[in-house]
Amino acid sequence: MADVAGDGVRLCGVADARERPLRVVAGGQALVVWMGSDGGPRVFADRCPHRDARLSAGYVADGRLVCPFHLWAFDESGRAVGPDGVARPACAARRFDAHVRDGAVWIDAAPRIG
Ligand code: FES
Repeated sequence: MADVAGDGVRLCGVADARERPLRVVAGGQALVVWMGSDGGPRVFADRCPHRDARLSAGYVADGRLVCPFHLWAFDESGRAVGPDGVARPACAARRFDAHVRDGAVWIDAAPRIG
């Protein structure tokens, strides 16, 4: 469960998100926190836009979050590529701006459900 503070929402410790994609709930919205190729945090809705699987069940490879169900891969901006390497512009992951402070991953405000 995320912690809400006056200046944002603390999602998890950085070390936790480095181990594997991490599911966190904030403002009633399930999120997945993962680390990009620059070591910075990425936060997506924990819902694959292909067929609604949990992206937090996936893994990170080559700077992309890979959904384990049909192997679509999402880059750091949320753009999707299918397992055949073809871009799927209509199926982007919902992304939230995130930053690191005091050893934790934060987003600016609790996401709105939807
Ligand atoms: S449900 Fe994620 S790739 Fe199909």
